Amino acid sequence: MLLLHLSDVNEASWAEAFSKALHPYPVVRRGDDFDPAEVRYIFVWKPKPDAFDGLTGLEAVLSLGAGVDALLKHPKLPDVPVVRFVDEDLSQRMSDYVVAHVTMHHRLYTRFRADQRAHRWSQFYPPSASETHVGIMGLGVLGQDAAKRLNALGFSLRGWSRTAKAIEGVQCFAGTEGFEPFLNGTDILVNLLPLTPETTGILNYETFGKLRRGNLQGGPVIINAARGGHQREADIARALKDGTLGAASLDVFETEPLPAESPLWDIENCYITPHIAAISDEKSGVRYFSRIIADHRAGKPLINVVDRGRGY
Ligand code: NDP
Ligand code: OXD
Repeated sequence: MLLLHLSDVNEASWAEAFSKALHPYPVVRRGDDFDPAEVRYIFVWKPKPDAFDGLTGLEAVLSLGAGVDALLKHPKLPDVPVVRFVDEDLSQRMSDYVVAHVTMHHRLYTRFRADQRAHRWSQFYPPSASETHVGIMGLGVLGQDAAKRLNALGFSLRGWSRTAKAIEGVQCFAGTEGFEPFLNGTDILVNLLPLTPETTGILNYETFGKLRRGNLQGGPVIINAARGGHQREADIARALKDGTLGAASLDVFETEPLPAESPLWDIENCYITPHIAAISDEKSGVRYFSRIIADHRAGKPLINVVDRGRGY
């Protein structure tokens, strides 16, 4: 039996789609009449404190999100494999966001918009894409997809990960010793890391001060599409105001929804979106997790299982 436990998304619609895809395998929702001991899989997003109560026969937790940081902190998360969402459609959506914001900052949108508002005709030619260094933190599923698409647009790419990688068209750096050299050559910093104790608060004033200066007019730029816990918002506000950063695109925040009183809302060179960089689409999500359940019922191993010790 599959139990759905989704908050802030249309659970009824997902349940209907799963029922069709998995028929005759039983699919239930909270509030339905079922025996919790019969549940083999639970599909979750923002699970409530009692989400796992009574699920004594559980074989896997399926995460609607690609990021599992909040799920791993659930105090009653059972000791069964956690499978996260890894999907081409999700990667495409994230890369859409990354490409849009990288190209916007590369072409100095903040400057030319200010000129337009001032009715100022001021010619200035941005560097070419190949002269612009985009540094991607996190070279996993999403980071590598973004790199592939930015590579096709001609940007000079650098990437940083925990373990060393060799990726065509990307100058790769790894570990703590690789962090500073990675930052030193980066004009536009894209964050696609998972949130772990090691990566919490990594987007801070000290980090911003290490980015390459002098290539992108107005200063280096950060783009955070991963988790709000990666960023120190007071540091971002300070860096945007004093010129340490030329601009910031933020899709995620320390507190979501971003409180109305946050100073970030009113900073001209801060581009805010409400955690919409990439959504787990219902059609592709149902296809992906139905396949995982069917394969697992047939005796195949689960895929994309989170390493709980590592935190992603
Ligand atoms: P992956 O697990 O596939 O990739 C994570 C990458 O980060 C890996 O390359 C890993 O290195 C690297 N990494 C982890 N810890 C460190 C560290 N301490 N130092 C350096 N590098 C590190 O994740 P995804 O690409 O699938 O997703 C990334 C994040 O994107 C998710 O965790 C989620 O938070 C966020 N996200 C945001 C969405 C949004 O709408 N805003 C939507 C979907 C996801 P290594 O390969 O060496 O292990
Ligand atoms: C995710 C998200 O992790 O939407 O998938 O943030």
